[in-house]
Amino acid sequence: MHPTVTFLARLAISCAALTPGARATAVPMHEPPLLSSVPAGPEGDLIRLGHKLVTDSAEASPEFAQNGLKCSSCHLDEGRQPWSAPLWAAWAARATEGSFPEVVDACYTSAMGAKKGPGPTSRETVAISAYSRFLAGGLKEGVSHEGRRLKMIPGIKEGTFDSPRADEKRGEAVFVKECVACHGADGAGNDAAPPLWGSRSYTSSSTMVMICCSSAFIKSFMPKGKADLSDQDALDVAAYVASQPRPAKGGDAKGDQDIAAMVKYYTRLAKKFIKQQLYSVQKNYPSLFQVLVNFFGVSPF
Ligand code: HEC
Ligand code: HEC
Repeated sequence: MHPTVTFLARLAISCAALTPGARATAVPMHEPPLLSSVPAGPEGDLIRLGHKLVTDSAEASPEFAQNGLKCSSCHLDEGRQPWSAPLWAAWAARATEGSFPEVVDACYTSAMGAKKGPGPTSRETVAISAYSRFLAGGLKEGVSHEGRRLKMIPGIKEGTFDSPRADEKRGEAVFVKECVACHGADGAGNDAAPPLWGSRSYTSSSTMVMICCSSAFIKSFMPKGKADLSDQDALDVAAYVASQPRPAKGGDAKGDQDIAAMVKYYTRLAKKFIKQQLYSVQKNYPSLFQVLVNFFGVSPF
């Protein structure tokens, strides 16, 4: 597959391209600077705008933040919280390769319900980048620091969509007992907590639908204020939440899973497979390959 296509396919299913997370080390956790230390002037204004876009997304960018979420619904504590995909760590890790703006743009469509993202050079992306760089406060760039991404539940690999260990039925009971009080019986959220599914929640292309990410987030931070679920309960309730309807990417709030995107993805995989087979026929049975080319009248490549 062409590298650009591979890259786009990865972006399409996730908010962030998944790479191995930070290894546990004895390095002390980064403490981002306080917002009150942002200087006056245009650079300071840009940082403050970035903060507003992250924490008050619908107010600051109504044309792009189109559901019931803020960036900080998931990037907790205004993007500061370690193991909640903190923005400072994302900035530090991605600054040298330059992928930060693309990921922000992808998050607008996959997590925030935008039909189309603002683009990697937009006012929104530039301001969120400035805010994230400010939070990073001079952290070494090009490094995946301690506290980046999410803390996976032991035995659950990063990039896992689903797990045989997770039981959606048991998860329903956990949900009723532990989550309904804030997120509501219909998961639709309210003033106290954001929506977990339904037309105002993240799309089926968000990384949050992957069992690895949602179980990690829930285990570390939910129920809010007393995150005390067992690994099993966190996995089960994550599977239950993932089984509920949510919008497809592109703002089409049909409330069903993004079947069209999955069909496209598997068609691409199938095409790649067929192409590989044809290559090996060409290599190992050149005369048979020539017969095929003559028969169809065109080369398959
Ligand atoms: C529904 C929850 C959710 C919302 C809302 C959300 N994100 Fe994310 N975001 C995630 C998850 C989950 C990841 C992947 C974390 C991982 O790979 O470990 C992620 C990844 C990222 C990353 C890359 C992290 C890294 O370390 O490489 C950035 C940057 C980011 N999001 C920015 C944003 C911005 C900006 C917004 C708002 C415009 C936003 N996100 C909204 C859940 C969300
Ligand atoms: C005490 C209230 C409370 C309880 C109980 C609670 N949450 Fe949350 N949850 C929140 C709030 C508030 C946020 C938004 C982030 C923040 O402000 O800390 C959130 C965010 C989330 C998110 C990311 C944003 C989104 O809307 O998807 C998920 C996933 C989540 N909670 C799952 C759960 C699950 C599963 C349970 C039950 C095990 C649960 N929560 C229990 C208050 C709560």
